Amino acid sequence: MTNMKICLGVLLLLLPTIATAFNIGSHHEVNRISTPRNIAAVGCVTALFSSQDPSSQQPTSEATPVKLARSQTRKKDLKTFARYLEIESWKRGSEARDLEIVLRSMGDACKQISRIVQRAQTDDLYGAAVGVDGSPLDENVQGEVQQKLDLVCNAIMLKQFCGSSNVISAVASEEEDSYRTCCDVMGNSAFAIGDYVAVFDPLDGSKNIDASLPVGTIFGIYKCPPGTTPSENTFLQKGNDMVAAGYCLYSATTILVLTMGAGTNGFTLDPDKGIFLHTHPDIRIPAAGPIYSFNEANYRDFSSPVQQYLNGLKEGSSSIGIRSNARYIGALVADVHNVLINGGIYGYPGTRKNANGKLRLLYESNPMGMIIEQAGGAASTGTGRILDVQPTGIHMRIPTFLGSIENVYELDQFHQYYSDEDEDET
Ligand code: F6P
Repeated sequence: MTNMKICLGVLLLLLPTIATAFNIGSHHEVNRISTPRNIAAVGCVTALFSSQDPSSQQPTSEATPVKLARSQTRKKDLKTFARYLEIESWKRGSEARDLEIVLRSMGDACKQISRIVQRAQTDDLYGAAVGVDGSPLDENVQGEVQQKLDLVCNAIMLKQFCGSSNVISAVASEEEDSYRTCCDVMGNSAFAIGDYVAVFDPLDGSKNIDASLPVGTIFGIYKCPPGTTPSENTFLQKGNDMVAAGYCLYSATTILVLTMGAGTNGFTLDPDKGIFLHTHPDIRIPAAGPIYSFNEANYRDFSSPVQQYLNGLKEGSSSIGIRSNARYIGALVADVHNVLINGGIYGYPGTRKNANGKLRLLYESNPMGMIIEQAGGAASTGTGRILDVQPTGIHMRIPTFLGSIENVYELDQFHQYYSDEDEDET
């Protein structure tokens, strides 16, 4: 009897869940039936409605695979990436048609890199790159050991930007010391005529690869000032001048997130068809959110405003009134994507040793900043807007805070109130 009462109590509490599990009055996913809470509920329901004699129950047979109703397995009717670009360029005119070609080849680059990342373990593509004599290659211009995959992915991006259209005339890669013209990349002077230049980080967070963790690709596209041929100065435009930016995240799914300056859109790679589908139309980042994504191992080196800000989050005294949740994957694309979808803040601050932090303005902070702003978020150095920063060199670094507008605003406020403390210490 007591058991019966307990079961009735649990049943009442879980009625909505049970209704969902049995698909009563809703069309939620059938697989919710397999969560532990639902299994408990189903157990109770069985006990309540089965006969008293357990031996009269049907013998349990081999576990039968859960069958999904047809309506739940059907592919969603989503626009393809190619179709999306076609419509956008029709809406925006000739300039967008140039971008359409380049962005389409970025979609192809992401597909190629996605496959390579998946095959890295089986095809011996892990680890540091070595030269023909088998010794490790020199560090790149950032002072980082280049991984084999960095080089393979760099080659893919160079070829996709320079070789697939006459739109891009020069490129700057995070992996290379200086910018290169597309004539140089392709070994052919026919590739000199494009009106745009591109910047990219071919495999962001590549150290994650060895542990099968998420990595990404980031890119930005700028127009050459009219009547100029590309030089280093062409790349030293403010983030405000970017005409398009995007990233690909290689994770549980491969997703391409893109802005052409009028909103942010996301496309997921359909693994069956090998095409990107428009799964995330007009992404809007929550105005405030719980995630904070900092490498807190560096806490003692952060400036006082950042330390005070993080202390506040952990003490629960944040003015945005949401309980904070720490997440740090160590790949910018993955961490920022999480913030874009769930709301919160990503930060790579300056440290007492490196006042400008680690992230590169051209290849990382600007493109990610544009994407976040176009989704309704904010991109700050802590003391100003990232996209307003005048680059002074193609590998320049910048303190970077990206995320929900309220979270980033709060961080900026800490910079205003506590900036004197660091000055006092010096
Ligand atoms: O800039 C490269 C990068 O791998 C980013 O993708 C990532 O956010 C950051 O470095 C991680 O750096 P750290 O290991 O110092 O936290």
